[in-house]
Amino acid sequence: MSIIFNEGTKTFHLFNDEISYIMMVLPNGHMGQLYFGKRVHHRGDYSYLYETVPRPMTSYVFEGDRSLSLEHVKQEYGVYGTTDYRRPAVEILQQNGSRICDFRYRGHEVRRGKPKLPGLPATYTENEDEAETLVLTLEDPLTGAVLELLYTIFAKGGILARSVRITNKGAEVLHLTTAMSLCMDLPDCDYEWLQFSGAWARERHLKVRKLEQGIQAVDSRRGNSSHEHNPFIVLRRPGTNEFQGEVIGFSLIYSGNFLAQAEVDTHDTTRVLMGIHPMGFDWKLEPGESFQTPEAVMVYSEEGLNGMSQTFHRLYQRRLARGYWRDRPRPVLNNNWEATYFDFTEDRLVEIAGKAKECGVELFVLDDGWFGARSSDHAGLGDWVANPERLSRGITGLAERIEGLGMKFGLWFEPEMVNKDSDLYRAHPDWILSTPGRSISHGRNQYVLDFSRKEVVDCIYGMMAKILSEAKVSYIKWDMNRSITECYSQALPPDRQGEVFHRYILGVYDLYERLNTNFPHVLFESCASGGGRFDPGILYYAPQGWASDDSDAVERLKIQYGTTFCYPVSSIGSHVSVAPNHQVFRNTPLHTRANVAYFGTFGYELDLNKLTEEEQEEVKEQIAFMKEYREVLQFGTFFRLVSPFEGNITCWMVVSEDKKTAIAGWYRTLSHVNMPFTRVRLQGLDPDLCYEEQRSKKSYFGDELMNIGLITSDGMSGQVEENTGEYGDFDSRLYVLKALVS
Ligand code: DGJ
Repeated sequence: MSIIFNEGTKTFHLFNDEISYIMMVLPNGHMGQLYFGKRVHHRGDYSYLYETVPRPMTSYVFEGDRSLSLEHVKQEYGVYGTTDYRRPAVEILQQNGSRICDFRYRGHEVRRGKPKLPGLPATYTENEDEAETLVLTLEDPLTGAVLELLYTIFAKGGILARSVRITNKGAEVLHLTTAMSLCMDLPDCDYEWLQFSGAWARERHLKVRKLEQGIQAVDSRRGNSSHEHNPFIVLRRPGTNEFQGEVIGFSLIYSGNFLAQAEVDTHDTTRVLMGIHPMGFDWKLEPGESFQTPEAVMVYSEEGLNGMSQTFHRLYQRRLARGYWRDRPRPVLNNNWEATYFDFTEDRLVEIAGKAKECGVELFVLDDGWFGARSSDHAGLGDWVANPERLSRGITGLAERIEGLGMKFGLWFEPEMVNKDSDLYRAHPDWILSTPGRSISHGRNQYVLDFSRKEVVDCIYGMMAKILSEAKVSYIKWDMNRSITECYSQALPPDRQGEVFHRYILGVYDLYERLNTNFPHVLFESCASGGGRFDPGILYYAPQGWASDDSDAVERLKIQYGTTFCYPVSSIGSHVSVAPNHQVFRNTPLHTRANVAYFGTFGYELDLNKLTEEEQEEVKEQIAFMKEYREVLQFGTFFRLVSPFEGNITCWMVVSEDKKTAIAGWYRTLSHVNMPFTRVRLQGLDPDLCYEEQRSKKSYFGDELMNIGLITSDGMSGQVEENTGEYGDFDSRLYVLKALVS
């Protein structure tokens, strides 16, 4: 890895074995973008990539000279209105009402490693040899606004991490109204755009369309990254598939309002912007103050979508997630939510936990309903004190009973919310986000606490820390069950109201950080009505997240498949729930529910006492299986093989680091009869190793499995004479392959 600056040509080349990123100072002092892609030879001069020609109806920078218009020039951090008409990366409202800026290169610095971003989640290095960071300094001479553009290139992987720091070094107050984390101008538009969209209970479904002239975008304006869209997009060359072809993935490490957009101009250049959503954003910068954008990560791969995903997985698993649980296989848990909802007593919980323990579960999680006056979703949020009518000796007493069974104990919180029927709201009605003189919308009968205020975060921290200090709590599920409306803080002046959405998320991060620091062994699982805040920002604090409230195995195929495009298996909260399922009322076989949930953190979302003895035996086997293979399932190299978005079959697999163990999951949604023979070509194996498939005890070389394929049609293709119950709808199989080593 290296960052080279050529003084003569004013060119920067950042490269490692996989990628090159090249830029140069343009004749007007702005930063021009020249190339991002597969590694190329280093040379001192790439100015042939700076393309500019006079065109009709174009405006020019220099008087009497038609050599430079920014309209079509590829730039690093474009501004609007000085011959560039595209959407800008930065916009600053000045005292005279102007928004024109002119950011010129002033200098740069190369640092070993990667600086921290204050108050924000970001990728990191464990030693300084892992990455280098280029800090480019640009200045707008009239206002004194200074940009520091940060580019971190890692020694390994096609990764470039970017962020921007904006400082007001002038004398007048500035208002930052756009400050994107990343602006990436590409020389053409021959790409397909992939986004991961949906809604509650169908999060992160893959959507593909051709990139076209005009603007295409996904965003969130809800205060959370949202169920609707994920802060992650992909551009891939036509013909690229899971295994080959060029892709660039763009991911924003942020949990609030975001925008991810590609603007293709009518000369076919593409500008990708990613960052905090400019809508409603207005950050006041007093002289001397700075604003730090969140980090955006670009990953280039020429090995198709799997290649890109594996790079994201490694980076986010090892250099974004942190702490005690980062590298540890996750405990098999039993959560009581779908087992009881709000209807539980302490004894009933212990009864559920007791059976769970007998089956091999390691962690019992008490979900919503244990605190304040919470017996339905109308009351109690904000009062993080156990309800003595339900838990006679509080959380401490229950945790002791669970620990006494030989299990760990976990607890649900929804720290950012309050019900009006709560002591907290009665004491502090001004602590919710609400616009003066306007009605206040609710969601699930709850209101959003103003986390932009330190005293609010302090108060919630105090209540949570008390419980964590007194009781043996090993895990926290942090929920967030509504989007923000009427976003306004009673504590901020009118000219700072455009800061509230971002300050809110900074407050969330602050609370997470304090809890992580002071309770380092607690495993955090994020949640927002399922997958409404499943983003890289939260992954920095909580290494796993409840992927969706939809726990149906068939629905989960699409949700989990879509999630893996950016996020590692170790981050995907996935549980076995009852049949018929509580969301879609579908009956799926118990083995299929487990076969899907294995590719995640794994647990149960039901009362195991209610299963038949035969089913309980099956659960014991499932848990034993998970314990044996969770290291490879959660931390192996994951490949998507056959997409649920394209047909009736889904297939994915993991391979251990030493390539000696692989597990493929095969899922068939609807059953058919008299079908063709089928095979699935596996990936990532050692071609020369012989693998034994554990069901059939047949063995094959890795090259056979990868080139000829694994036969998946056994018994299914012809006429099955009698109903053995084995070949119905929603069937699935796991193929465990172990290398035969002499
Ligand atoms: C929404 C979550 O996604 C569920 O798992 C559960 O925790 C409920 N909230 C509790 O209110």
